[in-house]
Amino acid sequence: MTIKEYVALRKEEIKNLVATLTQKPSIAIVQVNEDAGSTAYVRGKLKDAEELGIKAELIKLPLTTTQAELLKVIDELNNDNVHDGFIVQMPLPKGIDEELIKLSISPKKDVDGFHPLSSLVACTPKGILNYLKHEQVPLLGKNAVIIGRSNIVGKPMARLLLKESMNVTILHSKTTQEDMANFIARADVIVIAIGKAAFLDNRFTYKKDATIVDVGINRTEQGLIGDALANLPVKLQTPVPGGVGLLTRLALYENLLEIKGVTK
Ligand code: GUN
Repeated sequence: MTIKEYVALRKEEIKNLVATLTQKPSIAIVQVNEDAGSTAYVRGKLKDAEELGIKAELIKLPLTTTQAELLKVIDELNNDNVHDGFIVQMPLPKGIDEELIKLSISPKKDVDGFHPLSSLVACTPKGILNYLKHEQVPLLGKNAVIIGRSNIVGKPMARLLLKESMNVTILHSKTTQEDMANFIARADVIVIAIGKAAFLDNRFTYKKDATIVDVGINRTEQGLIGDALANLPVKLQTPVPGGVGLLTRLALYENLLEIKGVTK
């Protein structure tokens, strides 16, 4: 099943579940940037909420917002009884410490799953794992290669796949090209999130039954392009656009329901 079909199916299930709740789940989205990518992403999240019957409030703050002002907004959201959860859309303007902001969000309301004490899994890795399982991609004892070591994707993805008993290798900007090629050639599942258009291409060889999960979205003159060239010779490759971004958005609302103590 394509990601689009899978997400449509899960959304229908969530919508039906939300319809049974007398108290509708409520989320706030704080955006402190004018970034085109973020704006598109936030718009997608608001559209999802509307479709699912979930209340969503966009709190848009000016680019001139200081760290102290943002912390005050977060403090209010941490303590209000209005929102079950909230997110602060990344990236944040220069001068605001993103790690500090992530730590200031109460783990009880951290729908992104960014806080180290959060019981929730970060949305992108969670969405990816659920989809791989749905597609019955073999994981146990198989080789996972994660390219990129970010706190939002690479590291939590590695932990999740390790929990699935995969042999997990994380590659990054200091990995030599030779090692990169060797690890990729043996990989059963490749998750790439490095923000380099078409980094995975035909200069590498792949197992023909491999799965490539492409987290990258790069704006180029040719349009939106993933970190992998489209249509590589593997069994399953997630498209860009219409791929992992949809899984992340879905996982956000799965996390919100988990915070409310409702799961399916
Ligand atoms: N920026 C890119 N991805 C994300 C995400 O999943 N959550 C937030 N808050 N910001 C992001």
